[in-house]
Amino acid sequence: MSTRIARTTLTALTLASIATLGHAQTGKLKVGLMLPFSGTYAALGVAIENGFKLQVEEKGGKLAGREIEYVKVDDESDPAKATDNVNKLIKRDNVDVIIGTVHSGVAMAMAKAAKESGTVLIVPNAGADAVTGPMCAQNIFRSSFSNWQPAYAMGEVAGKQGKKKAMTITWKYAAGDESVAGFKEGFEKAGGKVDKQLTVPFPNVEFQALLTEIAAAKPDVVYAFFAGGGAVKFVKDYAAAGLNKTIPLVGPGFLTDGTLEAQGDTAQGMQTTLHYADGLNTPRDTAFRTAYAKSFKLQPDVYAVQGYDAAQILNIGLTAVKGDISKKAEFAAAVEKAKIDSPRGTFTMNKAHNPVQDIYLRKVEGNENKLVNVAVKNLADPARGCKL
Ligand code: PHB
Repeated sequence: MSTRIARTTLTALTLASIATLGHAQTGKLKVGLMLPFSGTYAALGVAIENGFKLQVEEKGGKLAGREIEYVKVDDESDPAKATDNVNKLIKRDNVDVIIGTVHSGVAMAMAKAAKESGTVLIVPNAGADAVTGPMCAQNIFRSSFSNWQPAYAMGEVAGKQGKKKAMTITWKYAAGDESVAGFKEGFEKAGGKVDKQLTVPFPNVEFQALLTEIAAAKPDVVYAFFAGGGAVKFVKDYAAAGLNKTIPLVGPGFLTDGTLEAQGDTAQGMQTTLHYADGLNTPRDTAFRTAYAKSFKLQPDVYAVQGYDAAQILNIGLTAVKGDISKKAEFAAAVEKAKIDSPRGTFTMNKAHNPVQDIYLRKVEGNENKLVNVAVKNLADPARGCKL
């Protein structure tokens, strides 16, 4: 090695160690966006990306002084491809942070990889209870909800409304199973009984046989977990079978969020619970909705809010460490003590990094999920199994 090269190497090393000693990091921050851009959840992925980018734009295109470079992967909501997809981002693209995803099964594979590699992961939708339960970690955060949260609230509401006998229907995978379990817990605590639990494989939309079974059983209420394209089809089929006239259909708000234009008349009057609603009428939400509509020529939905808040969480952590995302403990400490100023209303994090938030009861009127009231105030996921 020539002296000149040796000196250059030494200088580079010295500079690198100065950087790790607390000076601001200023290079580009590589953000991996692992989301569904095809299939039944495609629109959800787009809304999350839009929301994320809107917040980054509002910060002048930089977070903590670092420009953002995006690397996008379409995860197709396919758990079988999830480990390969996330490892490509971590090992090949060397991303600094991962934002993803929508589907609970895919998110669990992502959380496992993030935990092993230490890469910061912010989940902007998938509710898999395990991600902020047994799989919880210092570097894993969620800007959305746990499957338990809106489901439990809906169970409590339906029980308090005097419904006694419920049937449930969902896709057979973690999100559906956990959503039904949360509903059952809230409903049975409030005096109801879940009689029968129906399922179809994800992402099938052949509902006819099960609708016939519901019609024959005549429960007081039907609780359904579907989202995206599947939610559009289910709500329309439920009405086409005439069931909406006799047995109220309820669910977590995913059943009617971002879907109302396509569902049209078939969703009118439906009650759902979620951590977002139309008609909140706060200055914060109004400003967000105006900016979103202006940028994307679209009305925002819950997914857009979750993407926006994922960028807010990243900004809070990154600002605290002056852009140096390798400082995991300080990054986490800043997020843990933050009050996140979300369009949904301010929220904080529980110890497992899942939002503690109000769950709203909403009712479909026209193309809106209109706020009725706060169903459960400051609902925290129990974080069962999280040791942090
Ligand atoms: C999930 O798989 O966790 C999931 C997917 C879509 C939603 C909500 C939850 O709208």
